[in-house]
Amino acid sequence: MVDTFDDSDYQLSMDNIPKHIAIIMDGNGRWAKKRGLQRIAGHKEGMNNVKTIAITASDFGVKVLTLYAFSTENWGRPTSEVNFLMRLPIDFFSVFMPDLMKNNIKVIATGLIEKIPKNTRQIIQRAMDDTKDNTGMILNFAFNYGGRADILEATKALAQKVKDNEFSVDAIDEKIFEDNLLTNVLGELADPDLLIRTSGETRISNFMLWQLAYTEMVFNDNLWPDYSSEDLEHDIIKYQNRDRRFGKLN
Ligand code: FPP
Repeated sequence: MVDTFDDSDYQLSMDNIPKHIAIIMDGNGRWAKKRGLQRIAGHKEGMNNVKTIAITASDFGVKVLTLYAFSTENWGRPTSEVNFLMRLPIDFFSVFMPDLMKNNIKVIATGLIEKIPKNTRQIIQRAMDDTKDNTGMILNFAFNYGGRADILEATKALAQKVKDNEFSVDAIDEKIFEDNLLTNVLGELADPDLLIRTSGETRISNFMLWQLAYTEMVFNDNLWPDYSSEDLEHDIIKYQNRDRRFGKLN
C-alpha cells in the first residue's frame, strides 16, 4: 500500500519512541545540483545536518541512531568525491565533538573500517575513545558498510569457527549468526525499529539486510540536507501508527 498516512492529527508519543532508528541519508548530490553547486557541497551540508538530527534523536530518547555514511559500493564514485567523503568524519568530529559530549552521545562505527584511509580511521577511533564513557544515545556511523559484506564476513567467520571445532554446523542459530555480524556490539538493539530513507527513493541499497527483517520503513521526499527535526518527528509519528506484528497475528 502506498503510504498515505496523514500525521497532521497526531502527536508524538514519548512512550513509543523507536529504540533504534537507521537512516539512509540520500539526496546530497541533488541538493547541490539544484543550487548549481558541486556535489561535494551537498555532502558538506549533509554532514552539518548529521549534528542537527543526531541531537534531535537524542532529545527524543532514541537509544541508537545508525547513519549510512559510506557504502561498500560508494568506492565506485569519482575519486575526488570518494576522497571528500573519506575526509568528512575528520571535519565532522573536529567541529562537532563538543556538541556530542554535551549531549552525552557515544560514537561507534560499523563497517569494514580497516579498509578506509588511516587518518580517517584514526579520527573515528579517537571519537569512539573520547565518547566511550558517554551513557546517552549511541551514534553509529555505518562507514564502508554493506549488508552483503556484513553477511559474507559473518559466514566466513562462522565457517572458520566450525573448522576450528568451536561448534558444530547444527549449532548455528540466529543468535550465533548475529554475534558474528558487524552490529553485534549493539546487542539486543542491533535491529532497527525504524528505517528512514530521504530523497524519495524507495530502495534499501544493501543496508543492514539481515537487521532490517522486521523494521518499519518510512520514505521521506526531502533531500538529506533539507531533512529537519520536524521531519524526524513526523516520521516517528508514522512509525507510532504502524501495527508491528513480527509475522504473527497481533
Ligand atoms: C547519498 O547522497 C549520500 C552519501 C553517499 C553520503 C552521505 C554522507 C553524509 C550525509 C555525511 C556523513 C557525515 C559524516 C560525519 C561521515 P547522494 O550523493 O547519492 O545524493 P544524490 O542521490 O542526490 O546524488
